[in-house]
Amino acid sequence: MNATRMLTAAATVATIIMGPAIAHAQEDLPPSVAARKAQMSLYAFNLGQLGAMAKGEVDYDADAATAAASNLVKLSSLAAGPMWVPGTDTESIDGTRALPALWENMADVVEKATAVNEAAVAMEAAAGESLEGLQGAMAGLGQACGSCHKAYREPN
Ligand code: HEC
Repeated sequence: MNATRMLTAAATVATIIMGPAIAHAQEDLPPSVAARKAQMSLYAFNLGQLGAMAKGEVDYDADAATAAASNLVKLSSLAAGPMWVPGTDTESIDGTRALPALWENMADVVEKATAVNEAAVAMEAAAGESLEGLQGAMAGLGQACGSCHKAYREPN
């Protein structure tokens, strides 16, 4: 067997061993839990783009900043109810960090989610203006995310 074929064979074996294990972990999650985690990941990705510019790790780019902020506005406008199915809290299933308290305080949860939307709208207006504008809107957005995590997400 030549080197290329050996590598191919090794990769195939790795896929057979690793593939199902990874797929299995994701399949175990109820779709609603996978969906809300996906929403959160997209939040984090877009916030990360803005954060990198705010910290000067990436050059400020008005269009890119506005695009990331607009994504946050859209993401925080999704109808979220179906992603928070009762019985998918930390005491009911594995693989989630959503605390039971979330389902006991839905009015407050909606308020906290609305606060993220409002902070994202403010960011959308500020992000394209200047780096200073972006930096100024950053704290409000971060706090809006953090406020919900503090109340309803299990600490790591
Ligand atoms: C309404 C409450 C709420 C708001 C608002 C909120 N989060 Fe979350 N977030 C949660 C909860 C609850 C979890 C745990 C979800 C789970 O494990 O099922 C979570 C999980 C996460 C995770 C981990 C996802 C994973 O794959 O396990 C990230 C990252 C995250 N949030 C980022 C953000 C960012 C960034 C924002 C703001 C733009 C935000 N969140 C706004 C409640 C919220």
